[in-house]
Amino acid sequence: MSWALTPLTEEQLGIQRVARDFALREIAPYSAAWDRDAYFEPALVGKLGALGFLGMMIPEIYDGLGLDALTYLVALEEIASVDASVAVMLSVHNSLPTQMVLRWGSDAQKERYLKPMARGEQLGVFALSEPEAGSDAASLRCQAVRDGDEWVLTGTKAWVSGGAHAGVILAMARTDSPGDRRGARGISTFIVTPDMPGFGVGKKEDKMGLRASATVQLVFDGLRVPAANLLGEEGMGFIYAMQSLDNGRLGIAAQAVGIAESALRHAAAYAAERRQFGKPIKEFEGIQFKLADMATRVAASRALLHAAASAKDRGEHMTQFSAMAKLLASETAMWVATQAIQIFGGYGYVTDYPVERLFRDAKVTEIYEGTSEIQRIVIARELYSR
Ligand code: CAA
Repeated sequence: MSWALTPLTEEQLGIQRVARDFALREIAPYSAAWDRDAYFEPALVGKLGALGFLGMMIPEIYDGLGLDALTYLVALEEIASVDASVAVMLSVHNSLPTQMVLRWGSDAQKERYLKPMARGEQLGVFALSEPEAGSDAASLRCQAVRDGDEWVLTGTKAWVSGGAHAGVILAMARTDSPGDRRGARGISTFIVTPDMPGFGVGKKEDKMGLRASATVQLVFDGLRVPAANLLGEEGMGFIYAMQSLDNGRLGIAAQAVGIAESALRHAAAYAAERRQFGKPIKEFEGIQFKLADMATRVAASRALLHAAASAKDRGEHMTQFSAMAKLLASETAMWVATQAIQIFGGYGYVTDYPVERLFRDAKVTEIYEGTSEIQRIVIARELYSR
């Protein structure tokens, strides 16, 4: 059923097949149990790394595959259609920490952190939010104070996807001082590793969905970070985070398209086999109209995502386009999953079928990497900024 605005190349179709085969073989048999047990399978990092899937958009000189964004997102959709928890790990790693070190890192930082991430030896994560700083990300409070050749970080980062298993954390902290607050310009980005003194993993969230992705707080208790681990320029950390989220939101859009496609496929198959009133329920117009609307919205979301990915690959300004792709795809995923449950009726409400998991997983795509409300703010602001 999958189609693209422009036909995918042989290479893109090949990577899509590799992703699909991997997901069906290595993930699908275990997804329901991982979800039930809120279990993150650490072996997946090495397996995805061996395929090159943890360095998809990293140039080959840094041990990545050097693929474009569209190819990466096509593969991500395949993984997400089987397991959205695995997909968010891939999305965060490929869109945020790796891209940040590639774009703003020094040669030494690329050697030390980018290459192992690209090879899949270390999982990269992104730590922007805090318990009191969600949508208003620039209000974050984690404080960094310079002490000789080190920065000392104190504060708590929240909602860190994959944080308990991270090898490399791109963390945003304030480098302005209490007497000289500079708003968004008072924030810098640091490359943190769990072996640094003062690093701790805090509360693990007990989530409604994406249960096989461990979401934790990270506690920096006088965390000592070498000065050489400041990323790029001091005071530019918020801008780096926002520019990176322009990429990240494409990944979440691909995850949402994967969830929606999966809900559509399950609902269509069930409607063909389920008989009521003497015939398969797909023969009732009420069901056909639902399936038609679901298929149309999935196709529209994928088309917008691929158009946005192609714009990124042409080097165009992405802020509005990626917010639109994420907004449409995430609201589509939630809507399509809701319709799928309705088609399944009571069977959709229990764990015997995967649609209740898709419904739970879909919800967070309307929340993380910027809520739907934040995407609308970004889209509306861009109408007046250019
Ligand atoms: N690209 C480049 N620069 C940008 C930018 C972008 N997309 N967005 C903002 N900026 C710049 C602005 O130009 C401004 O720069 P100047 O200092 O030069 O003026 C600076 O950043 C501050 O921008 P704003 O004044 O627009 O900042 P704001 O406080 O009004 O916030 C916001 C803007 C869009 C609401 C932003 O806070 C936001 O996106 N909030 C949502 C937070 C979010 O997405 N969190 C995701 C958490 S990570 C996660 O979820 C990962 C996971 O686990 C899956």
